[in-house]
Parts: sequence; structure tokens; C-alpha cells
Amino acid sequence: MSDTHQQDYLTVNRQSWDSKVATHVASTFYDVAAFKNGKNSLNELELTALLPVTGKRLLHLQCHFGLDTLSWARLGAQVTGIDLSPKAINQANELAKQSQLSAEFICSDVYDSTEHIQEPFDIVFTSYGVLCWLPDIDRWAQTVAAHLKTGGVFYMAEFHPFHDVFDGYSYFNHPTANVEVAPTYTENNHATETTEMTWSHPISQVINALIKAGISIESVHEYDYSPYDCFAGLTPCEQSDEMQAPRYQHLFHGLPTPLIYSIKGVKKA
Ligand SMILES: C[S@@+](CC[C@H](N)C(=O)[O-])C[C@H]1O[C@@H](n2cnc3c(N)ncnc32)[C@H](O)[C@@H]1O
Repeated sequence: MSDTHQQDYLTVNRQSWDSKVATHVASTFYDVAAFKNGKNSLNELELTALLPVTGKRLLHLQCHFGLDTLSWARLGAQVTGIDLSPKAINQANELAKQSQLSAEFICSDVYDSTEHIQEPFDIVFTSYGVLCWLPDIDRWAQTVAAHLKTGGVFYMAEFHPFHDVFDGYSYFNHPTANVEVAPTYTENNHATETTEMTWSHPISQVINALIKAGISIESVHEYDYSPYDCFAGLTPCEQSDEMQAPRYQHLFHGLPTPLIYSIKGVKKA
């Protein structure tokens, strides 16, 4: 991709995310009021994978307005969050102040994040709706590895790229971005649409990029549910005793399709 094109996508996506922040903060989807009352915004998957985090240095890549980052802080982690959107980072700092939680938030493109922080982390975390905004997964994986100390843990939980096929996207990666004018995913968005530039990244590409970057993969899981009701056509899963929170599924010919996946790995010496 040419430098001009790279500049374009960062400008386009920064504007798109900046314009979503106020709507997201006001939404039931994010439920900031519940967070302020002590609710943890993290899901069972990432909590099970990473707890305990007490005293650990945790880097949250693409942290949006910091709800999950601050939830890790509440659980005792020393957190740093990075995001491209200045409005998201302002809101994250405001939320930290209001919640009296200690956190560092940095406004940066993921790929430039090593210019802002050099001290390595015990944990690098990223989740739900992140990789599609990045054109180059090898470069992303190298960034993840650069932020981890030897033996440090990487964990991601992400929407499954196969689901995008139902919305007309390729499962496989193409260097040319998908350019789309779309509304945001929270329930309170009634009119606003923004232009977004995204890329598909099949799971094999993500795993291979992490391996090449020096991350030893411990586990990969795929799930037939999403903790978020954020795509058209999802239906609530039948509640069972093992579920700590509502789950949503997408049925095709009456059968559940993959909606999220997770990867856990450790940085090799
Ligand atoms: C779906 S949101 C984050 C998901 C998070 N789980 C949440 O809901 O709070 C995606 C985030 O990625 C950020 N982002 C997009 N492109 C980025 C880039 N190149 N560098 C850093 N952050 C980026 C956006 O600003 C946005 O806040």
C-alpha cells in the first residue's frame, strides 16, 4: 500500500471513530452508568484467560473509550490503553478521572505505538472489532510482540471473520480496503453514517503472523455465539446455568455459525 493510501485510511477511520464516541458513551450497549456503579465490562472469555491480573502491566490495543481497559484496572492491573481516536482517548481519560482509576491512555495508530511506549508489558490484550481496521496483520503481530516481555502473555478475543461472508465480504484478505458508508452498532444510533475502510483477515493469517513474530500459540478457540448483539440477524441463545451473561447466535439453515474466536500465546525468548 502506498503512503498516500495509508494516510487516507487513517484519516477516514479516525473521523469515523471520533464521530461514534459520544453515541457509544450514551448507549445502553456500553452502559457506562453500570460501569460507574462498579460493573465490570469484560466478558467471561477474557477474564477466564487472563485473571489474576493484580500488579501486572497490561497493554490494551485499540481500547476505544477505555471501558474494558479501566475494568482491567479495577481488577488490579497497571493499564495502558492505545487508540487512534482522540475523542475516544479524551473520553477514556475523563472516565478514569470520574472512576478514580489509575490508567495511561495514548492516542496513536497501533503501528506507531512502540514510539510512545518502550517498557515491555506482562500482558497485551485486544478484543472484539479490532483487526478489520488494520491493513497489515504481520506488522500488527510484530507490534504485539515488541510490547511483550519474554514470557509475557498475548490474548485476543475477536469477531470471527467468517461471519463477514454473510454480509457480502470476502473471508480471504485482499490488499484493497472495503470502503463502506455504515451506521454504528449501538442501539441509540438513528441516523449517523460514516465512511469506514476495513480489511478481512482469515484466522490462519492471524495465527501465522503471531508465530512469525515470535509468539508461541497456546490455544485457539472458535465459538458459536457473541457476547454482543451487534450484527443484523442475531438471536438470543437459550439461557442455561453455565451462562454468566446473555449470548447471541447466528443461525444458517437452522445451525449456529462461528461468531467469535480467541487466541492465547506467550512471547518466546
Ligand atoms: C470496535 S472498537 C474497540 C472494541 C472494544 N472492544 C470496545 O468495544 O470498546 C475499535 C477501535 O479501534 C480503534 N482503531 C481503529 N484503527 C486503529 C488504528 N490504526 N490504531 C489504533 N486504534 C485503531 C478505533 O478508534 C476504535 O476505538
